[in-house]
This record gives sequence, C-alpha cells and structure tokens, in this order.
Amino acid sequence: MTSEPGQHPDAASGGGVDPDAAAAAFEEIAAGVAVASTRWRGQDHAITVTSCTWVSREPPLLLVCVHEDARFLDAVEGAGTWGLSLLGEGARATASWLATPGRPAVGQLDRVPHTPGAVTGVPLLDGALAGFECRTTDVHPAGDHAVVLGAVVGLRPGAAAAAGEKPLVRFRRSYHALA
Ligand SMILES: Cc1cc2nc3c(=O)[nH]c(=O)nc-3n(C[C@H](O)[C@H](O)[C@H](O)COP(=O)(O)O)c2cc1C
Repeated sequence: MTSEPGQHPDAASGGGVDPDAAAAAFEEIAAGVAVASTRWRGQDHAITVTSCTWVSREPPLLLVCVHEDARFLDAVEGAGTWGLSLLGEGARATASWLATPGRPAVGQLDRVPHTPGAVTGVPLLDGALAGFECRTTDVHPAGDHAVVLGAVVGLRPGAAAAAGEKPLVRFRRSYHALA
C-alpha cells in the first residue's frame, strides 16, 4: 500500500515523537555551515544555515530550509533570487553574527566583506569556499519551515578552497574545523 506522508493523520503531530528529543537527536549529524543571502528592496539580507543541500546535478538545483519566522523568508520570497556561500573555518564570527536573533535588519552585511554575484547581483561572501547564485523555482511550506528550491544560475569557485582552507562545521551546537 502506498501512503502520502503529508496526508497521514500522524504526520502533522509528528506521530507522537517528542519534537525536542527528535531535534536533539539530529544534533548528532555534523553539518557544513553556509550563509544564504539575498537583496530585496535595496537591502541585503543574510542568515546562517545548515539546512542546505545539493539536490540535482542536471539541472543544478540547491535547496535551503528557512524558518517561517525568519525575516529572511519574506526577503527571499520577494526577491526570487538568492545566494549560498559555503563558509570556511575562519568565518565563525560571521556565522555567529548572521545567526543572531534580532540583529538590525538594515546593514547586516556592512561588516561582512561581500560582492554582488555576476548573474543576479545577490551578495556573495568574499573568502567563501564557494558561492552559488540561485533563482527560486519552488517554495514548499514544510512544518515550521519553508523549503526554498533554486536553480543554480551562477557560480563563484572559492579561492579559499583552492588555498586549502577547510570548511566550517557545526556539531552538537558548536563550531568545529576538520582536523
Ligand atoms: C549553525 C546554525 C545553523 C542554522 N541553520 C538554519 C537553517 O538552516 N534555517 C533557518 O531558518 N535558520 C537557521 N539558523 C537560525 C538562523 O540563522 C537565525 O534564526 C537567524 O537569526 C534568522 O535571521 P532573520 O530573522 O533575520 O532571517 C541557524 C543558526 C545557526 C547558529
């Protein structure tokens, strides 16, 4: 028998699993840290993310999961284009800043070196291991997040990766670098 997960009576409630316990258990995964960014109504918007994934090679597609309360969600939905910058181990301060709740909405990237992507103009962080420019293809509501899927329309390979910098990793609520 096939089932549609979204329609199952237990799906909305999580089937009785304690959400805090499930979230805590998922902290056992080590995840690369990135910054999702966009430019909307003349302002730069950016957040630190780990819920981002390479989805498809042909065509190249990426996704990022954005919390429904994140101000970034309004911006990325409004703009239709966004960037993803993969952070190196030297970018902990940037990751912390762009994850700080309630930081000013204006000037979020004033102290973060960045330059516009060549295709869409979205801000990409200088010194990132790699930068991707995406054009949104779908936004799917998913629980308390939205899954934002984007076609990769621009690419900025990072000089930092070429120079041997290692990725910034999040594990058990702390930042780490690969040994
Ligand atoms: C390591 C780390 C990873 C995060 N990953 C995500 C994520 O994937 N999606 C998300 O919506 N928020 C994520 N957050 C939380 C946002 O960065 C944070 O809520 C941010 O302040 C939202 O900013 P905004 O309200 O200006 O959009 C993460 C935070 C940290 C510290």
